[in-house]
Formats: sequence, structure tokens, C-alpha cells
Amino acid sequence: MSALPTSRTYAERLDAGDPLASFRDRFVRSDESLIYLDGNSLGPLPTATAARIAEVVAAEWGGGLVRSWERWVCLPSEVGDLIGEHLTGAAPGQILVCDSTTVNLFKLINAALDAQPGRSVLVTDDDNFPTDRYVLQGIAAQRGCELRVIKTDLDRGLAEDTLLAALAPDVAVVSLSHVAYRSGALADMARITSLVHAAGALVLWDLCHSVGAVPVRLDECGADLAIGCTYKYLNAGPGAPAFLYVRADLSGRLRQPIWGWFGQRDQFAMGPAYDPVPGIERFATGTPDIIGTVAVAEGSKLLAEAGIERLREKAIALTSYLIHLADEWLEPYGFTLASPRADARRGNHVTLHHPDAWRMNRALISAGVIGDYRTPDRLRLGPVPIATRFTDVWDALDKLRQIAADKSYENLPTELSRVT
Ligand SMILES: Cc1ncc(COP(=O)(O)O)c(C=O)c1O
Repeated sequence: MSALPTSRTYAERLDAGDPLASFRDRFVRSDESLIYLDGNSLGPLPTATAARIAEVVAAEWGGGLVRSWERWVCLPSEVGDLIGEHLTGAAPGQILVCDSTTVNLFKLINAALDAQPGRSVLVTDDDNFPTDRYVLQGIAAQRGCELRVIKTDLDRGLAEDTLLAALAPDVAVVSLSHVAYRSGALADMARITSLVHAAGALVLWDLCHSVGAVPVRLDECGADLAIGCTYKYLNAGPGAPAFLYVRADLSGRLRQPIWGWFGQRDQFAMGPAYDPVPGIERFATGTPDIIGTVAVAEGSKLLAEAGIERLREKAIALTSYLIHLADEWLEPYGFTLASPRADARRGNHVTLHHPDAWRMNRALISAGVIGDYRTPDRLRLGPVPIATRFTDVWDALDKLRQIAADKSYENLPTELSRVT
């Protein structure tokens, strides 16, 4: 007898048929009962990463001391190539692991503005991630140029005609997120890149919410610039270094604003003047975070082993199952979908709108399910494609419907009490 999708048996059968199921055991789990649906904030710790970091600390730092720099110095570009080959469709020599996403955005936007004299307008959308909007505002203020902010739909993402209306001959760079942090809306990178190029501008993609979960094809799309973090789906840990991508033919034309010695042609000549290397390393600044870069390498290798296409397939299955259960169980309690329904337009997380989302999320955490809350009234649930089970999704939604039904969330303090 075939099981109904709303039955737990159905979820168990999906787990039994999941070709990636065994990867769950490659992560540290200290609480078997915890359901983790916040992979879009901080990914879990791979066991191989913990072991490799311990080894690097003991042998390479403890034993090798300063001698280890000989091999460490190549890590940022080597690990960048790993990300390029397995996760973001970038040929070698175009990705560097370095700094934070925020700092990389600052570097690349300034470099892109300098490279396009006569064009001084920056374009972004009003639902881009806060740090992106703030950095762009800051650059516009520092350089006295215009930041053109286009309006976007909080649930559906960027509309093509709104973008087109902003694309005038004065636009230098369009800076967008590939997957919207709030709704999970997935932008059509190839199409938008070609629209921006037709207007003579450059495009920068923020990949924080797509890298490691959604296949990215930077070279194929003709993207100019990209940035992304590694602590979400790359599972590299809190504050692990970010990465940046600069298309090979653009590198030599761009000069970043932070003239640090790690971008210098003959670093140890200690020469009087800054003279950056021609390749991607010119976007480096100071001494790289080696332990963090090692964690990025381990996280990327694990994803490469699972295969980004298979991860995406599983992610779509997990999130569409989540949406199905939400439709069936949660709609009567005032929840509505605040993410695109079409699989091809959705990244890796599902956002549910509910007027009391903040307290719902608190109640859910108390019940052992970690998701998160996003303003103004949204509950964000982000499976970790490599580690989340279909039964985790079933159990999480089952707990949520119980919380909604027994109204236990109403006993919690309101969001206002968080602020005051
Ligand atoms: C789209 C996006 N950009 C940037 C960031 C954060 O940048 P940083 O790592 O510099 O704090 C985040 C963090 O969640 C994000 O979601």
C-alpha cells in the first residue's frame, strides 16, 4: 500500500531511497534529537574538518612553525580553485578565499567603479542583504556617486522589468544576490547578467545563499564579479574566510582599494611601491586565515564528493516536501508561503509568513527545531542538503503544527520584549 505524503512512513521511504543519506554521518552530532534547519545561517561541523584542523594546528603550526608558510601561502587560491571547479563553475585562477564577504564587496565594487570612467551609478535592490546595501551606501557616500535602489518583491524576488528600468548608460555596476536571503528567491543569473551587459555595465553576484546548495555557473553565465561566504552551505564554521571571483579577463584591469602586501608582485622584496600581481591574488589584502581556509577546503571537498547536482536534486525534494506539508497542515493556522513555489525559482530555504512568526520560531526552538526568524513576520527554514533527512522535515513541520494548534507560542513574550 502506498503511503500518503503526509504520513511519516512516506518520509521514511524518501530517506531510505536517498542516495546521499550516508553523508549525515560525516557531521558532528551531539544531540540526536535536535532538528537543524538553519543551514542557511551556519552549517554543521564536518567530522573531517575537526580532525584536519587539529592536525594543522598540531603539525603545521605546532611543528612546522613559520616554515609552514611555504605551503600555506598557496592555500587561498588553491581552495578558491576547488570552489570554482566543484561548486561555482569557474575555471582555475579566478577565485580567491580571503577576508569577509563584506570586505570583498567593498574591494570589488571600488575596483569596478575605478575601471569604468564615465559611469558612476551603482544599482542594487531594496531587499538585498543589509551588509550589501550598507557597503554600497558607504561607497556612494565616500565617492559622491549615486546608489540607485530598485524595488523588489519580498516574496518573489527581483522582477526583470524593474531592473531594466534602472539600467541607464550611467550605470557602472549592478550588485545583486543570487538567492534572496529572506525569501530564498533564486535569480536567473544568465539572463540578468546578459541584460546588465547589454547596458554596458558590470554585474556582481552575492552567492552567500547559493554556493554549496545551488549549482552556480559563473563562467558560463559570463558573470563579472562574485562574492560569497563559506559558513553556510560550505560548512566551514563561524567567521571562516569568504571568497571572491573576478573573471579572468577582467582581473588585470581592476585594482582594488586595499593595497596590501599579500597582493604585491614580489612580496618579500619589501619594495617601496605597491605593484600588484596580475592574477587573482591581487585581490588579497593581508595575512590570510589559514585555519579557516583549511575548513573551507574540507567543507568544499565533502560537497564535491556528494556532487553539487545531486545536492541540488535533494534540496529541491526537501524544500518541495516542506512546502507540501506546510500547505496541508499550516495554512489553516494562518501560515502562507513567502518563497517562490516553482522549484526552479527557489534556492535552498523556505520562508513561511505568519503574523506571529517571531514567537512561533521561539516556540519551535524550545521544541528542539532550529530555524530562524526574519523581519517583518517570517519563519525561515533552511535544510542542510547534505545532512538533513526527509523525516527531519516531517518532524519539524509536525512540531510546528502542534505549536500552532495548541497556541503554546502565545505564552511567550512578544518580539517587542526582545527590542526593549
Ligand atoms: C547574502 C549575504 N551577504 C552577506 C552576508 C554577510 O557577510 P559577512 O560574512 O561579511 O558578515 C550574509 C550573511 O548572512 C548574507 O546572507
